[in-house]
Amino acid sequence: MTNSLVSIILVVVFCGLAAGTRTTLFLTEAQDAVSAVADDGICKSMVETQGYFCEEHMVTTRDGYILSIQRIPVGQSGKTSGKRAPVLLQHGLLMDGITWLLSPPDQSLALLLADNGFDAYWDWTWDELVDYDLPAIFQYVHDQTGQKLHYVGHSLGTLIALASFSKGQLVDMLRSAALLSPIAYVGQVTSPLARNAADSLLAEALYWLGINEFNPRGKAVIELLKHICQKAGVDCTNMLTSFTGQNCCLNSTIVTVFLEHEPQSTSTKNMIHISQMIREGTIRMYDYKDEDENRKHYGQPTPPAYNMKSIPNDLSLFLSYGGADALSDVNDVQLLLDNLKDHDGDKLVVQYIENYAHADYVMGVNARQAVYDPLMAFFKLQ
Ligand SMILES: *[C@@H]1O[C@H](CO)[C@@H](O)[C@H](O)[C@H]1NC(C)=O
Repeated sequence: MTNSLVSIILVVVFCGLAAGTRTTLFLTEAQDAVSAVADDGICKSMVETQGYFCEEHMVTTRDGYILSIQRIPVGQSGKTSGKRAPVLLQHGLLMDGITWLLSPPDQSLALLLADNGFDAYWDWTWDELVDYDLPAIFQYVHDQTGQKLHYVGHSLGTLIALASFSKGQLVDMLRSAALLSPIAYVGQVTSPLARNAADSLLAEALYWLGINEFNPRGKAVIELLKHICQKAGVDCTNMLTSFTGQNCCLNSTIVTVFLEHEPQSTSTKNMIHISQMIREGTIRMYDYKDEDENRKHYGQPTPPAYNMKSIPNDLSLFLSYGGADALSDVNDVQLLLDNLKDHDGDKLVVQYIENYAHADYVMGVNARQAVYDPLMAFFKLQ
């Protein structure tokens, strides 16, 4: 990417508390390989080719970022009968909306939802900013459809939802939420790659923060990985596995498509924030590691916590986690569930899939039967 792009990100990042890469429209000034795919549009490249209608939409956040989201208004049959409930699909860290389109049409959640009477939106860029992006997109989808939304988050897509709900945000526009590979507490992440990366990023935070953009295919990150991969206990022969855990059910053709598109950039600040959470086991806002700086941003010397106990007890939640997931570790999920122990019994469905790891939730060959069918059945009851 060119310097002009990076400087635009820098300016905005420093003005707000922006943490993710929210580069969509900025990329028109600084085309690169990734943006070329994006600007061609996920609709054109991944949805229309499967015979589905698809619309590209833009949403402007309060802090001036322009996000790109895609909408699949009807299923393949083209039937438009009745009001279709909107579903917002939010992908995870270093990912984009392609997350929901990797498998064949009858097995990809975005297209399955469209074929099952839902109206599917998902976000193209990822950002952790609970304060701007999700509210803007929720409001937009709500206005367009005149209805409350179902939400599906994977991985960090669950964290930003949980953090929002804990502050009482979005809940007025929400019908129900499905949380796949939930990320809230991450203090017990077992992935050696993720733990080592977190330690290295924190140890050299000043260096990394000078880079602004965390590009997984860039020189700095490749050097970092080389360094980590030499450490004992880190197996880099299969990066996907050492990062996500031993996925049970991946198809190598689909993994190849996945790796052609992902991983994508996020902001370094966002990576540092997540590293802080891994090291400290807390769910707090970004820590500037400087009391004055924290005071400037938060009015207090330490970052405010997101309190998972504050999630309204009557929100309809479908939560699914896997026994082999190295990022959404079962002990961390248990901590989250402990916080939800007063949740209304009939409003919380918890699913545990013993042999599932992080990527099975979006690419597993049996994800439809194991996860998406029960998820849609849950949505239809809400
Ligand atoms: C893997 O996915 C491809 C593309 O969808 C498909 O053609 C192939 O049959 C799948 N292989 C297996 C073993 O499921």
